[in-house]
Amino acid sequence: MKKIVILTLFKNMFDEFLKSNAIKKAIEQKKVSIDLVDIRDFTNDKHKRVDFPPYGGGTGMIISCEPLCLAIDYSLNNILNSEKENTKIIYMSPRGKLLNYNLSKEISDDGYNYVIICGHYEGIDERVIEEYDIMEISIGDYVLTGGELACLVLLDSIIRLMPGVLSDGALDEESHTDNLLEYPQYTKPSEFRGRKVPEILISGNHQKINEYRKQESIRITKKYRPELLQKDK
Ligand SMILES: C[S@@+](CC[C@H](N)C(=O)[O-])C[C@H]1O[C@@H](n2cnc3c(N)ncnc32)[C@H](O)[C@@H]1O
Repeated sequence: MKKIVILTLFKNMFDEFLKSNAIKKAIEQKKVSIDLVDIRDFTNDKHKRVDFPPYGGGTGMIISCEPLCLAIDYSLNNILNSEKENTKIIYMSPRGKLLNYNLSKEISDDGYNYVIICGHYEGIDERVIEEYDIMEISIGDYVLTGGELACLVLLDSIIRLMPGVLSDGALDEESHTDNLLEYPQYTKPSEFRGRKVPEILISGNHQKINEYRKQESIRITKKYRPELLQKDK
């Protein structure tokens, strides 16, 4: 079972996600465990503050070393304990390695446990990253207010790839497997506002349907993400 510990200032942002079907199933089937740790529980500040102004000036606040390092130590020693050697630490960060299908797949399959840090304000003290040799992951070239949404994206993308979480075949032809985007999909009714479902899809000829879908995948990929067609599989 992959154990994931999330360090955050906003635990309640994970509530609905943990109740969703696929995630609940993955937890029940013991494919993954998710623990939430509130960084604020580890501050010694009498006002429960975890953020302070940056050295050198500038706007915004920085989450300080002490509560974050204590929260990491607690996660490693009290939650992961005997499995802490087999654990990697991620900081969700706009300057990190860009998340894509291959990185999600790697994290999903790699057999490691993870501690994931969600930043807030202007980020975290750099010394925390140095202290634990932390990997930074970004979900895109834009800046969010906090790392929680980014962490949810990462979690969802890795958990749905775990064998048995989704129904059989659900992952086979999804966008980004084989560097292709998914072909157009249709459901009932067969005609809507004069727009008919492509004839081939109701022909019952599965070989022709597969060929058609492959062509459509290539067409859509050329249209939206032509660079994917140049990538090694
Ligand atoms: C306002 S951002 C801090 C941005 C930081 N000052 C910078 O310019 O790189 C607050 C937190 O949101 C999270 N975050 C923001 N954008 C993100 C992204 N694209 N991917 C992952 N995490 C992100 C990080 O955890 C970050 O510490």
